[in-house]
Amino acid sequence: MDAKIAVVPGDGIGPDIIQEAKLVLDTIGTKFGHRFTYTDTLAGGAALDAVGEPLPEETMRICKESDAVLLGAVGGPKWDHLEGSKRPEQALLGLRAGLGLYANLRPAILYKQLIDACPLRPEIIGDGLDICVVRELTGGIYFGERGRREYPSGAQAYDTMAYSESEVRRIAILGFEIAMKRDKKVTSVDKANILESSRLWRSVVEEVAKAYPEVTLNHMYVDNAAMQLVRDPHQFDVIVTTNMFGDILSDEASMITGSIGMLPSASMGEGSFGMFEPIHGSAPDIAGQDKANPIATILSVAMMLRYSFGLLKEAEAVEQAVNTVLDGGYRTGDIMSEGMRSIGTSEMGRLICEAL
Ligand code: IPM
Ligand code: MG
Repeated sequence: MDAKIAVVPGDGIGPDIIQEAKLVLDTIGTKFGHRFTYTDTLAGGAALDAVGEPLPEETMRICKESDAVLLGAVGGPKWDHLEGSKRPEQALLGLRAGLGLYANLRPAILYKQLIDACPLRPEIIGDGLDICVVRELTGGIYFGERGRREYPSGAQAYDTMAYSESEVRRIAILGFEIAMKRDKKVTSVDKANILESSRLWRSVVEEVAKAYPEVTLNHMYVDNAAMQLVRDPHQFDVIVTTNMFGDILSDEASMITGSIGMLPSASMGEGSFGMFEPIHGSAPDIAGQDKANPIATILSVAMMLRYSFGLLKEAEAVEQAVNTVLDGGYRTGDIMSEGMRSIGTSEMGRLICEAL
């Protein structure tokens, strides 16, 4: 296979982890006889510094001309003072919306080797954990109208959470489809006791559920879901939820799996084109120091191989290689525990390639 990949390293640890992910892709290419060609492009703070805007048109063009996008992370304190529309994070929203990537899959898997890194008690965790968060990605409060109003008494700021039936329907369908390939259980998370958008969300999800009689559906308010995730995470299989609730709950789910440095994500639209990135941020405090955990990005590469390129064997090989290295006792700082061997970003990448 010949595939063109747009690579957006971004800011902070972005370049550190992307470098390792590319090495893994190259190794897969050599081993399985595929050719991956990369076009590096700028977004986020790196683009702001270079050309004065977070998402240059050229970046968008390169992404659209590619078969998939591999992204590191964007943002950092250097750009925190900028007004909303100029912030590095706008690049991410612009890419998601501009590329039509409405579905964000965030599998939270607790590797058995990392049980010690999980902050929950062993009796809660049992023999591991496997939850798939399906987060709506191009609607809701992230994209609703926002602004400020000036009153004599002072300023007021507002953000709007809006969902249309069609936006809810397509993400709900995906949630059920994914559940059909897993444990056939969907938890739809909303705040329907308060929010009108959530009441519409709930009714559309219920309508979609009729086409999936084998799947058990339950609804949960987001505050309760946040609690249930740490009280009894085993009750979840697929969580389908809105943009903001998914953002929050996937960080929580990642911590249960030991570290946010372990969670990959796939952002998909209608076809096989997708954008693949770790769920963590740019961690500016450890950037360029060979300290970041590249595993979330490497597992994102596995998702790219599986979902965009249909290369299932190759995806499994990457996941297996990660397992092998964890079995060997190698850990980056974020997942370090007693008796393990502490290594840096590049050594982790190298070992995973070697295991491949
Ligand atoms: C994520 C991140 C982004 C989001 C930020 C960086 C804009 O937290 O991908 O979860 O909120 O979607
Ligand atoms: Mg987030």
